[in-house]
Amino acid sequence: MKFFADTAEISDIKELAATGLLDGVTTNPSLIAKSGRDFKELTKEICGIVKGPVSAEVVALDHEGMMREAEILRKIADNVCIKVPMTIDGLKTCKALTNDGSMVNVTLCFSANQALLAAKAGATFVSPFVGRHDDNGFDGMELIGDIRLIYDNYDFRTEILVASVRHGIHVLQAAKIGADVMTAPPAVIKGLVKHVLTDKGIEGFLADWAKTGQSI
Ligand code: E4P
Repeated sequence: MKFFADTAEISDIKELAATGLLDGVTTNPSLIAKSGRDFKELTKEICGIVKGPVSAEVVALDHEGMMREAEILRKIADNVCIKVPMTIDGLKTCKALTNDGSMVNVTLCFSANQALLAAKAGATFVSPFVGRHDDNGFDGMELIGDIRLIYDNYDFRTEILVASVRHGIHVLQAAKIGADVMTAPPAVIKGLVKHVLTDKGIEGFLADWAKTGQSI
């Protein structure tokens, strides 16, 4: 499963990229607003740090407007992935952009039927928001399982990008279901390495090593 960082913070992206574990980045208008940075400049900087897809979202709601914005965004770098909302105009834009060789991430997916539409529109990625789905009394991971089943039934190439990930259990479940990608806040990704027995084990080994009086 590929790991994308769901952030627009350069320091976090650099830190994760340095581990070699980062396969891409997703941003959205809220994350851009939080960064306080110029959208285009920031996107260019992120694309220079991470080789994989960097999702940059359009804000127009009509097809023509989305195409205009996508034209500007895709010129920023070859690894820009245009993010469009799950609407008829978004799907129409997805079809036009992927036919033209661009990567497209169809975002704000909350049903398996929506994911089916994204695949039919040729999306590179579909982003089901599991955390927000859970928050609204649905089962986010059941949605991922349904999408996996449908995509496998028809051999759709659209990658399932599990989004709105809130904790390690979401990551684990996504991997067990066979999602292609998950995007999570940096703190969630870094938290995956933590285990109390790992920390305790290191402490014990170092204490015993100190008794040997040796150095490596
Ligand atoms: C995905 O591309 C979105 O940016 C993101 O995962 C949304 O997550 P949130 O529900 O934590 O805002």
